[in-house]
Amino acid sequence: MRLLHLRCILSVLNAVEILATTVPTEDGRYTITSKGIKAQVCTFISYGATLTNLFVNDKSGNEVDVVLGYDNASFYAQDKSHPTYNSIPGRYANRIGKAQFTIDGKTFRTQRNDGQNTLHSGTNNWSYRNWNVTSVSSDSITFSIVDREGESTGMPGQVEANVTYSVANGTWSIRMVATSLNTKTPLMLTHHTYFNLDAYKNPSTALIWDHTLSMPYAKRYLAIDGNALPTGKVLAAAIGSVNDFSSQANFSLGHARGSSQFKGNCGTNCEGYNGFWIFDDHPRDIVLLTLASLWSGIKAELRTNQVGVVLYTCAWSDGSANLKRAQGMGSRKKVEKSSCIAIEAQDYVDGINHQEWDRMDAQITGPGETYIWDSSWTFGTL
Ligand SMILES: *[C@@H]1O[C@H](CO)[C@@H](O)[C@H](O)[C@H]1NC(C)=O
Ligand SMILES: *[C@@H]1O[C@H](CO)[C@@H](O)[C@H](O)[C@H]1NC(C)=O
Ligand SMILES: *[C@@H]1O[C@H](CO)[C@@H](O)[C@H](O)[C@H]1NC(C)=O
Ligand SMILES: *[C@@H]1O[C@H](CO)[C@@H](O)[C@H](O)[C@H]1NC(C)=O
Ligand SMILES: *[C@@H]1O[C@H](CO)[C@@H](O)[C@H](O)[C@H]1NC(C)=O
Ligand SMILES: *[C@@H]1O[C@H](CO)[C@@H](O)[C@H](O)[C@H]1NC(C)=O
Repeated sequence: MRLLHLRCILSVLNAVEILATTVPTEDGRYTITSKGIKAQVCTFISYGATLTNLFVNDKSGNEVDVVLGYDNASFYAQDKSHPTYNSIPGRYANRIGKAQFTIDGKTFRTQRNDGQNTLHSGTNNWSYRNWNVTSVSSDSITFSIVDREGESTGMPGQVEANVTYSVANGTWSIRMVATSLNTKTPLMLTHHTYFNLDAYKNPSTALIWDHTLSMPYAKRYLAIDGNALPTGKVLAAAIGSVNDFSSQANFSLGHARGSSQFKGNCGTNCEGYNGFWIFDDHPRDIVLLTLASLWSGIKAELRTNQVGVVLYTCAWSDGSANLKRAQGMGSRKKVEKSSCIAIEAQDYVDGINHQEWDRMDAQITGPGETYIWDSSWTFGTL
């Protein structure tokens, strides 16, 4: 009884905390909220146009912060490990093989910041820049960026982009519109969202393996090398095999932990996932991916105009990063290895170096063309 009473007071306090803030708080945070059946609160900072907190209700009606991040807003820019928490890597997300690409016979060289390859466009990536806030209301915020020629090492021309985040009815929507004004350039964006739907409070495990993942239309994936760079091969996931998340609606992320393919599945010394799955023929506006946790009872459904998704199960988290105050339990205060999943809707990884996939038109934009990336996450309970 006493406990219940305490919980009530806490949720009243939370309700006070979660007012929308159309002017930023002292540490630069903007909060947008949606009413509706499920409370939903998203907080953003300009650094990387980053989502810092996302509160949704669990099966008992408690608010749970389901994304990774830091309480200290200034720390994002200082964090040497730069996990790209819930920000927008750009102008070309994920890897560029051998740090080069060719457009109309001209070869461009990008920065090698991931072995021999480029990751997230190098060390002046969009997830590292401070975006401008160009519009904000109680349930929506827009950030803008101008990426001038030369700012993204090796990338030709200037790109301008806007991202609008909005919340309504338990759904968080993300829309990015970008243009390359004067020249053809690689342009491929994503939102690099990291989830743990239990907010690290499940007493039996902090790991992500008990979460279930369903992608009914993603029967194929890209084979990768030891550095998580696609080899060019497109493979079909055999039913029940390590990369199969389509044949059953409730495979756990750890369903193949016992198999010898699990270790090394995401590259050298990398267990779990860091690859790209293809959403094949599917009806418009349908749920393409569902992440859920039986423990919190929260499910998150992804709709997107993108042709596939990168899944990364945090193999490189090393236990040094802090959890937020709203997350963890007891002595559990750090982000340990394999305790989260980044879900990144996007086009084929390194498609600019693979003519055979026929993704050039989608991945090279300009001059004057408009690129549009649209996704939404709908939260509910099991
Ligand atoms: C927040 O992070 C910044 C940058 O690392 C640091 O200077 C500051 O001391 C931190 N503040 C707190 C309260 O930890
Ligand atoms: C993005 O830029 C930051 C700052 O330079 C850097 O720390 C980070 O490693 C870069 N991201 C990647 C994936 O290299
Ligand atoms: C923000 O706006 C200012 C003023 O228009 C501009 O100089 C700056 O480049 C913009 N920042 C970004 C990241 O685009
Ligand atoms: C939210 O739900 C209400 C009631 O079901 C509906 O009338 C409204 O159109 C929905 N809003 C959005 C933005 O989907
Ligand atoms: C971004 O938004 C501004 C209005 O704030 C608009 O002028 C500009 O055309 C937009 N850019 C793109 C690429 O849509
Ligand atoms: C998954 O679904 C099967 C068949 O419906 C059921 O037997 C099993 O208990 C479910 N597993 C989980 C983890 O929900």
